[in-house]
Amino acid sequence: MKDILAVDGGKPFMTRNVAEWPVYGDEERKKLNEVLESGHWGCLAGSKVNEFEKVFAEFQEASYGICVPNGTVALEMALKALDIGIGDEVITTPYTFIATVSAIINSGARPVFVDIDPKSYLMDLDLLELAITEKTKAIMPVHLGGRPVNMETLGLFATKHSLRIIEDACQAWGSEWNGRRVGALGDLGAFSFQSSKNITAGEGGIVVTNDEDLADVCWSLHNVGRVRGGMWYQHERIAWNFRMTEWQGAILLAQLERYSAAFELREKNSANLRRLMASEIKGLVPLEPNSGISANSNHLFIMKYNSEYFGGRSRDLFVESLRAEGVESASSGYVPLHQNLAIKKALAKFIGESETISLPVAEQAGQETVWLGQTEFLGDDAYIEMLIGAIRKIQKA
Ligand SMILES: Cc1ncc(COP(=O)(O)O)c(C=O)c1O
Repeated sequence: MKDILAVDGGKPFMTRNVAEWPVYGDEERKKLNEVLESGHWGCLAGSKVNEFEKVFAEFQEASYGICVPNGTVALEMALKALDIGIGDEVITTPYTFIATVSAIINSGARPVFVDIDPKSYLMDLDLLELAITEKTKAIMPVHLGGRPVNMETLGLFATKHSLRIIEDACQAWGSEWNGRRVGALGDLGAFSFQSSKNITAGEGGIVVTNDEDLADVCWSLHNVGRVRGGMWYQHERIAWNFRMTEWQGAILLAQLERYSAAFELREKNSANLRRLMASEIKGLVPLEPNSGISANSNHLFIMKYNSEYFGGRSRDLFVESLRAEGVESASSGYVPLHQNLAIKKALAKFIGESETISLPVAEQAGQETVWLGQTEFLGDDAYIEMLIGAIRKIQKA
């Protein structure tokens, strides 16, 4: 017998929520209280942000970290540190959050899209050569959902063409390409600690690098152009106040302490879901594994939906149905950015209004994906089985 779907007024299949989000405890309380009572609420006098910069950089196998208010400005600061601006071009992916591309546009540079690889939905490195012009200064790969871009191939390509690499690692805390943590595999890397992120302080970001000079420039850029060791009113470049508060530093220190256990739990549960889906569900296929991905933050669990296996139900109706069954993080994912109104308007300045950009694989991804968010993977085995049950219920209906 077919159960009535929750979207049609039936009872939701999921009888319980996964873990509460955000996860916090006494460690966060203790560290916040330390900040409160220290009277040092800003990072220039306090120690929490400084300490987090050190431990997070170390965690990402980077030499330096500079905390900033969010991932968006982390990307903007990285571009400015590399002196990228008006007249320059930066190659990136269309299948990402808008901030990747708005950072490039806000720097004054032109974003140049290459299409994505249909197997990984990551920037297709075979297409890079076609996108290069004499104005190209940098490549901004995005480690989508925690699955890293092949940084060896990209590194060789960048060296060959004297290009800089800024990693958008905003979703990739702890992710590794062939045993090496991402972030400082290129020149600079940006991470986000916004509310939905696996490590969060509500908002927050960091730039990491192995290059001491770039680290000094970033420090100056995030601190109104001051120089390390300089005088209070000694400003040597036009910059921003992108300093993080000690409250965020306190929360992030505690969040990082609990991260390894959560990282392993997400990996275990997402592997379990992948295995169950392969044996039980047709028409909803997770992105292929890749042996180069030696660690994955599992920020997003991305699947390709084929409506033929769901009685012709559209992808969007499937997502709505899954959410109604209680899988709250289900989503249709990104609209490719070359189809986004704000980006289209901004690109018109560079390429004229009449020129259209065609990126068929990204367009297909925009139509066929179903995402689950990282919070679904913080429960137990029974929760993952229930999740499969919810998908099966919709398929049956
Ligand atoms: C891929 C990507 N880039 C950049 C950002 C921007 O980070 P934030 O929201 O912290 O500004 C995010 C997160 O939202 C992201 O997912």
